[in-house]
Amino acid sequence: MDNGRAASLDLAPVEAAIAERAKLLPKEHRGIAKALPQPPDARMQISEHNSLAWIDAELSALAERDLLRRLMAHEGAQGATLSLDGRAFLNFGSNDYLGLAADPRLADAAKQTLDHEGCGSGASPLIVGRAESHQRLERRLAEFEQTEAALVFTSGFAANVGTVAALVGSGDAVFSDALNHASLVDGCRLSRAEVHVYPHGDWRALETLLQKKAAARRRLIVTDSLFSMDGDLAPLVELSELAQKHGCMLLVDEAHATGVFGNQGRGACEWLGVERQVDIRIGTLSKALGAAGGFVCGSRALIEWLVNRARTYVFSTALPPAIAAAAIAALDLVREEPQRRAQLLDRSRHLADTLREQGWQVGPTVSQIVPLVVGEARRALELSGALAERGIWAPAIRPPSVPAGAARLRISLSFAHDDAMVERLVNALNEVRGAALSPFAPRK
Ligand SMILES: Cc1ncc(COP(=O)(O)O)c(C=O)c1O
Repeated sequence: MDNGRAASLDLAPVEAAIAERAKLLPKEHRGIAKALPQPPDARMQISEHNSLAWIDAELSALAERDLLRRLMAHEGAQGATLSLDGRAFLNFGSNDYLGLAADPRLADAAKQTLDHEGCGSGASPLIVGRAESHQRLERRLAEFEQTEAALVFTSGFAANVGTVAALVGSGDAVFSDALNHASLVDGCRLSRAEVHVYPHGDWRALETLLQKKAAARRRLIVTDSLFSMDGDLAPLVELSELAQKHGCMLLVDEAHATGVFGNQGRGACEWLGVERQVDIRIGTLSKALGAAGGFVCGSRALIEWLVNRARTYVFSTALPPAIAAAAIAALDLVREEPQRRAQLLDRSRHLADTLREQGWQVGPTVSQIVPLVVGEARRALELSGALAERGIWAPAIRPPSVPAGAARLRISLSFAHDDAMVERLVNALNEVRGAALSPFAPRK
């Protein structure tokens, strides 16, 4: 822009227009319209009546219970290593399972698309349509997942919330595993269906509930396939049999399994041979696929229903097209480089076995997510801190992400880790075990 012109910009017509519009407002609101052209400083004054004072007390209470979270900053890209608040770590915290988040092939695909399709999507796809990259991605996802159709959401969270709430409502019943991800939990709550939570993985308890609620208009079972904090799998064979036997819909969230499990990398449903019995499969592009966004795949009718009824789709601006292009590049790599998932699962199995032998409570993991359950939040913070002092990043996971008394270190492996890195982790864990420690203090 020509700076000279900008400097001499005449604001009088804008101010006149604002004054004109203010006349249309009820009297008591006219002050608001007048306040609009004020310089930024004036607008940043905080009201004397601080209606948010309660927050300080709540934050202090969280800190006292070792449950306060603080944001940190990382510099540059994250991968097998991570520079966090100026300190370098081996990174065992991220969900970049195939090591694709910083892969230059994804970045190149995104850069090329930025030049053609721009940065933002402008509006909901229902208002301005989808970009070429969105359409290509949806076609590729349907092909990859071997379903009639697929639909891309702005995140896995949005896909779950929007889909569950679009499928059931008042008069319906939804059955949800006790350890499901927050996005499924919130989808159930928003749906206004009756929510029945069954104990984790307990399909027999689920069957009892299904029998009790046989009169509900529609019934939907929702489950993660691979549980993000325990690394174990849902009993998908039994769940799909129950869904068939009782005439229920079955929704499976493959967020942590897409790209990792199955011969073709489609997830745990592929691995366990139940894809055709699962009506609604959801995945995310943000974890193993190294990009961002979520997707639903299934029948054409399902996708058309979601286009019309999933509020997180209808009322939200589409994913940036460049990110869709990066996700397509990631799908190519899932197909072309199957050794990534094979090696990841081999190494994960080996790590879990080693840690079990050393006496850690590793839990029922069968995957790249290796939790070390330690009980109290403070202990998890202490261990995470001691590892950080040794250059290892393994985040402490505390309630409400896990049940009270089940705080843990969540170690997630990536194809980007090599054997030497995993050995460093094991050695550091050996060093910190049993030591008296103080919690990790993030630098301010
Ligand atoms: C099981 C599960 N589903 C969905 C999501 C949300 O996916 P996204 O991060 O793409 O929003 C997560 C994220 O952690 C998850 O763990």
